[in-house]
Amino acid sequence: MKTEVLPVTRDSLERAGVLIRAGELVGMPTETVYGLGANALDAQAVLKIFEAKGRPADNPLIVHVASAEEIAPLVREIPDAARRLMDAFWPGPMTLILPKADCIPDTVSAGLDTVGIRLPQSEAARALIRAAGRPIAAPSANRSGKPSPTTARHVLEDMDGRIPLILDDGPCAVGVESSVIDATGESPVILRPGGVTPEMVENVLGHVRVDEHVMSPLREGDVARSPGMKYKHYAPKAKTIIFEGEAPRVIAAICARYDAALAAGERPAILGFDEHDFGARTRISLGSERRPEDAAARLFAALRELDERGETLALCEAVDMAGIGLAVMNRMGRAAGFDIENV
Ligand code: TXA
Ligand code: MG
Repeated sequence: MKTEVLPVTRDSLERAGVLIRAGELVGMPTETVYGLGANALDAQAVLKIFEAKGRPADNPLIVHVASAEEIAPLVREIPDAARRLMDAFWPGPMTLILPKADCIPDTVSAGLDTVGIRLPQSEAARALIRAAGRPIAAPSANRSGKPSPTTARHVLEDMDGRIPLILDDGPCAVGVESSVIDATGESPVILRPGGVTPEMVENVLGHVRVDEHVMSPLREGDVARSPGMKYKHYAPKAKTIIFEGEAPRVIAAICARYDAALAAGERPAILGFDEHDFGARTRISLGSERRPEDAAARLFAALRELDERGETLALCEAVDMAGIGLAVMNRMGRAAGFDIENV
């Protein structure tokens, strides 16, 4: 199959809509990361997503809609707390887990009784959903185990020859996936942090719970509230270590580890902030230390760059865990197998 990459225009949206209705897959831009979209109500089309990604069948998909009214037929119930979160943060980078209606195929929910629903901020994403006239099931458009794609080129790297069309809407503004919030009860729990932060949820509900596995690996015998927690994710080929502490100590520790690795014949690289001086050592920028949203927007591209350059060791500066920083540290932590050194 030949994979076309087209800018978002009336014509390309129309083509994409026809493909979705015909049960095909389309690379879909969103404000978080690129998705791999299919008609959410077509079980056969949804199966193609799992095949193209190499995704385990027990990991459920998020269903995307173009307006909040469209969710009524997809869910059995909308608890009051869920309603308040929708009013506050949709359209935006937030997925709500709700009790699923029968029209959602089991392939989408991976056999669970719930479904994740998201109303994206991205105009292009919503235009595609409208053009298709169907809710769109879409996981991130990476092959399973690779960092999520934040540009159309990343999608092409992973999906070339596997899907007919990728819509190119430029780099994703947020850069990490949506916050996944279990909203089946009156006390919602953040299962995956994202652009809608714990602070923002607390402002609306007066309280917030964050699942304990957001910043710790799942151990033997632990129950995953979200199947995605079970899988190794975002892993670059390079061994990845995070350094946390006061900036001068972190910089010194990273430089020392870098020099030792280089002397041992490794290919080290630093993921660090622009304000910090690492001399002539190889550095991939996480943007400004003062803007955690820079690190969010750049992290996945940085992880891909490590592999492209054949680096064998990645030394990362930790990001402050306030706001979207928690989402960045969750993704960086998983890339590093939660190998975090306090210096
Ligand atoms: O920003 C995003 O959410 C992107 C864009 C494309 O919208 N999508 C995305 O999908 O990140 P995916 O499939 O890569 O991640 C969805 C996560 C997985 O960890 C999955 O286990 C979890 O959400 N999830 C989906 N449905 C669930 C459910 N019913 N219960 C618990 N977790 C669920
Ligand atoms: Mg994903």
